[in-house]
Amino acid sequence: MKVALKIWRYESSTGQKALKEYELDAPEEATLLDCLDIVKDRHDGTLAYRKSCRMMICGSCGMRMDGAAVLACNTRMYEIAQAGRVPVISAMGNLPVVKDLVVDMEPFWTKFKAMKPYLQPGFAEPPDGKEYLITQPEMNPIHKESLCINCGCCVSECNAMDSDPEFLGPQALAKGMRFVGDPRDHATVERLEEYSGQHGIWECTRCYFCNERCPKGVDPRDAIAKLGAEAVRLGVDRDMGARHAKWFVTSAKTTGWLRETELVPKTQGIVRSLKDTGFAIGLARKGKVPSPFPPHVAKDVDESRALYDLVKAQGRDGASGIVQGEKALAALDHGVHGADRDPYGPGSFPRPYLPGEEAAP
Ligand code: SF4
Ligand code: SF4
Ligand code: FES
Repeated sequence: MKVALKIWRYESSTGQKALKEYELDAPEEATLLDCLDIVKDRHDGTLAYRKSCRMMICGSCGMRMDGAAVLACNTRMYEIAQAGRVPVISAMGNLPVVKDLVVDMEPFWTKFKAMKPYLQPGFAEPPDGKEYLITQPEMNPIHKESLCINCGCCVSECNAMDSDPEFLGPQALAKGMRFVGDPRDHATVERLEEYSGQHGIWECTRCYFCNERCPKGVDPRDAIAKLGAEAVRLGVDRDMGARHAKWFVTSAKTTGWLRETELVPKTQGIVRSLKDTGFAIGLARKGKVPSPFPPHVAKDVDESRALYDLVKAQGRDGASGIVQGEKALAALDHGVHGADRDPYGPGSFPRPYLPGEEAAP
């Protein structure tokens, strides 16, 4: 098939940048990565990009196609070529570009290391001196987070990192949840304290782009929501983001309304709110401040209170109360029907369903 690509070429040592178009012959099953290989082999050997496994495992080939992050080895070109589209390929966002499609991953790995991505068991070694065993049900809450291949596609599209490059970001925070949710790790509160600071959990703008672009179904935004819920559950709630979230709950439970006028002092504290009085008056003059006297209790407040009681009765405080994205649920909807399909014994990681097999009830 005939494939046409436009590729942003960039050379950091000179700052030169150019959009170059390439036309090539490729087999119908070719991926974007195969096409880049053809460009490099037959058209322009100076093209720079990263790759290794070619099968969505190593996380090396993250880049942008038409402005959205993809894994090149997971992007089929057939439909694109058939539609006559000429996609624009560029380096990932939110990381410095070194050359063409290669970005400097150092800031990414610095944040990754800041999460202390290793178990801190805090107790004696297992009696047999081997492994800390864990069952599959205990692993399920962090199954998604464990799937991350550190490709950076989520980081590339993160809104919050765009405005604050110091924000820990979706990949690092998802990794944090992988350890916060692991029952073998005994540094949960310490981790939550660290992740709740400036540039941490509460800086996420909830744009959900990371969930949308993650090729492995990690759903980093869900992981961040779980971290926030765990922080509040364990009393790690000094950050304004945590206080903001808590007031939403209190306000809905007590009156059924979101009492926005009280939201600011409840979130920022009285002293800081007073400092913002001039700003608030300016907003009020422009009609952007809600009435300070909303109806005190909503007519159907009982429904709101019943919902609160239901969640409490179910014991769904913390991470277990976070509703997972649909993609995540689909990713978890695999398993075994019985011992005959559990080749490594009870509690072992089940294999995914194959096409035509039924999902577990
Ligand atoms: S949801 Fe949060 S972490 Fe994810 S991309 Fe948006 S701002 Fe970044
Ligand atoms: S969370 Fe997903 S998109 Fe982000 S680095 Fe991990 S695998 Fe890649
Ligand atoms: S080459 Fe390894 S994930 Fe694409």
